[in-house]
Amino acid sequence: MDTALPQLTTLRLLLRTLEMHQAQVLCTLANGSKIADNTANIPSPYTLETAQDFIAGIADKYRTGELLNLGMHVLGTGELIGMVSLRINARHHYGHLGGWVAAHCRNQGYAAEAASAVMDFGFDELKLQRVGSQCFGRNKESARVMEKIGLRYEGCVRQAFLKNGVYEDLLGFATVRDDWERGL
Ligand SMILES: CC(C)(COP(=O)(O)OP(=O)(O)OC[C@H]1O[C@@H](n2cnc3c(N)ncnc32)[C@H](O)[C@@H]1OP(=O)(O)O)[C@@H](O)C(=O)NCCC(=O)NCCS
Repeated sequence: MDTALPQLTTLRLLLRTLEMHQAQVLCTLANGSKIADNTANIPSPYTLETAQDFIAGIADKYRTGELLNLGMHVLGTGELIGMVSLRINARHHYGHLGGWVAAHCRNQGYAAEAASAVMDFGFDELKLQRVGSQCFGRNKESARVMEKIGLRYEGCVRQAFLKNGVYEDLLGFATVRDDWERGL
């Protein structure tokens, strides 16, 4: 695997790593509505130090084959509007998608566009066998994104994640190489 972080271009986005000068904007966006609440590991409040540590760790996490994190930047303006990630399980050739979109940019197809490009990269370049994700049962937006990019619903693991004192159901979605190659 090439250990240099990739840059992926979609119709409207440049997906690339973040630079340290983007820490403040990352911090502002990541504190936005529903981000910590709907994700497993994003802290609230999301401090400037958290943003700086996150950015500082991106290259190493990819170099060690663990995690690909790319910022969603609008083509033309360069505005950062979200993050997309692929956590890599190298042993099982599995990639787990994650991410978020800034509150003011939602429902415009950006998450689906970014996740689809990262999924293609996972199958094409990282030679993954399976790409999937999970969301909380109440996260209808995320479930819809997974459906839109061609992940198949695999079921609900009930009360499997304790979030802010509540046992959340986890909905699982995935596709496998054969289906992806056949465009299913
Ligand atoms: C989930 C998230 C990444 C989606 O980003 P996005 O750029 O708005 O996604 P898209 O525009 O590609 O698709 C959103 C879809 O959800 C649909 N949607 C929005 N609210 C919905 C709701 N309450 N119920 C059902 N569908 C809903 C939209 O209509 C759209 O579907 P469509 O294209 O068929 O109209 C974004 O809402 C977000 O960042 N949420 C907070 C963090 C998060 O949940 N991350 C994912 C953790 S698994």
